[in-house]
Amino acid sequence: MEEKKKKTQWHNLLLLLLTLNIFTTAGAFNYSDALTKSLLYFESQRSGRLPYNQRVTWRGHSGLTDGLEQGVDLVGGYYDAGDHVKFGLPMAFTVTMLSWSVIEYRQQIAAAGELEHAMEAIKWGTDYFIKAHTSPNVLWAEVGDGDTDHYCWQRSEDMTTSRRAYKIDEKNPGSDLAGESAAAMAAAALVFKESNPHYSHLLLHHAQQLFEFGDNYREKYDGSLEVVKSYYASVSGFKDELLWAALWLYKATDNEEYLKYVINKANSFGGIGWAMTEFSWDVKFAGLQLLASKLLLEEKHKKHSHILELYKSKADYYMCSCLNKNTAAKNVELTPAGLLYIRQWNNMQYVSAASFLLTVYSDFLKTSNGNLNCHGGTAGHEEVLSFAKSQIDYILGSNPLNMSYLVGYGPKYPQRVHHRGASVESYRENKGFIGCTQGYDSWYAREEPNPNVLVGALVGGPDCKDNFVDRRDNYMQTEACTYNTAPLVGVFAKFSDQENMDQGQNLDFVASY
Ligand SMILES: *[C@@H]1O[C@H](CO)[C@@H](O)[C@H](O)[C@H]1NC(C)=O
Ligand SMILES: *[C@@H]1O[C@H](CO)[C@@H](O)[C@H](O)[C@H]1NC(C)=O
Repeated sequence: MEEKKKKTQWHNLLLLLLTLNIFTTAGAFNYSDALTKSLLYFESQRSGRLPYNQRVTWRGHSGLTDGLEQGVDLVGGYYDAGDHVKFGLPMAFTVTMLSWSVIEYRQQIAAAGELEHAMEAIKWGTDYFIKAHTSPNVLWAEVGDGDTDHYCWQRSEDMTTSRRAYKIDEKNPGSDLAGESAAAMAAAALVFKESNPHYSHLLLHHAQQLFEFGDNYREKYDGSLEVVKSYYASVSGFKDELLWAALWLYKATDNEEYLKYVINKANSFGGIGWAMTEFSWDVKFAGLQLLASKLLLEEKHKKHSHILELYKSKADYYMCSCLNKNTAAKNVELTPAGLLYIRQWNNMQYVSAASFLLTVYSDFLKTSNGNLNCHGGTAGHEEVLSFAKSQIDYILGSNPLNMSYLVGYGPKYPQRVHHRGASVESYRENKGFIGCTQGYDSWYAREEPNPNVLVGALVGGPDCKDNFVDRRDNYMQTEACTYNTAPLVGVFAKFSDQENMDQGQNLDFVASY
């Protein structure tokens, strides 16, 4: 009897240790290293005149006459992915997510010695948005166009494609683009509040004007700009971006008017109506709902708790569906090895965005002493965080192919990223001009690995069966985008701090057993 009891106790302890090991895999990945690399990626994507302290040295200046045809200075900003179009909507979302990462995990980023780099990555975007916002109701939305750009395979330093710029204004408005740009600048204003108050103020000024422009002239930007339609059409419309912008403006200004907007329009704009399983450059509802839930932590928001609780119930829905604790039909699909799977083309963008929301949500649960209550069970903050970690660890190599989908991280990562600059010999090494179709013939079609490693890029990633084909023409899987990596900055920072905490926690756990 006693013997059996002892055995069971040991058995339980073993199970517990195994479980802990599975959930924490302490020391398996170096998240600080991943954080450092993720920030380097934004230097590879820089357009314009590169600064003296540029660390990614295979890149050179590019796009130095952007906007010239239209008489506006649009030099700078980011190329969105493996091509050279500057698309406003995904660029703004990238900057919002970088800023949110710093807002949540500033201490951890600083402890890893990366705060300066993170702030530079944000400022490279916001400096461009300031240039692009040439008057209160004019915002330049795009430079170059997908069709002509994709016709060529060139380094950005050799670009010969059209650099025509497109704008939204009163006659051709775009509330989603204006809203996301306002959100990005308001969030960035919070990042720079103490270190650069003048800049922070300037960003707020632009953000407020852009929000007003978006709100006063309500229209989807792809209804005004034909050119964005086949690349970044706004399928979810603009109501999510307007609510999202208002909430970021409220956080940045403490002005009650913005909060009222979020509360009063919660219903009519779908903020408390849409239950989503995707968070992306297009669909902001889940992020908005989480951000609104966090207001519940402050006493001063008590008078709005009814609406805020409704926002929270939709945030819960998103988290439950990621954890596969909703009813089956409402769960996010998982690959056999456990990766969240939304769709075939660039699935990793949804994984990194979900990991960020889950990580922040786990902090929220911990602070509020709450649990996530789902149709299919309850989860505490540790389980939510463990799930986020499972996604991040999959990204870094804990998957059937032992492949890190973060380029340049670990011993095995994609070698043929679908990226013009990375796949062609560096401009620094060969300044000879490489023409539009010459790039396709000489570089795109090669079997060999890319000559330049696009460090920190998160590629589109595997299919629904965890398969991945490392070919340059497999752009659904091997292309990377700025908004894939941006949310990882926050998540890597969170886990880089966990690295130090895990061991202590494990010991505590065993001791109390
Ligand atoms: C993690 O990587 C960084 C380099 O980015 C290195 O300095 C550090 O020593 C590594 N930490 C561990 C525990 O290996
Ligand atoms: C991945 O690593 C594991 C453990 O080292 C090994 O057993 C497995 O064969 C590897 N798989 C591939 C595809 O390399």
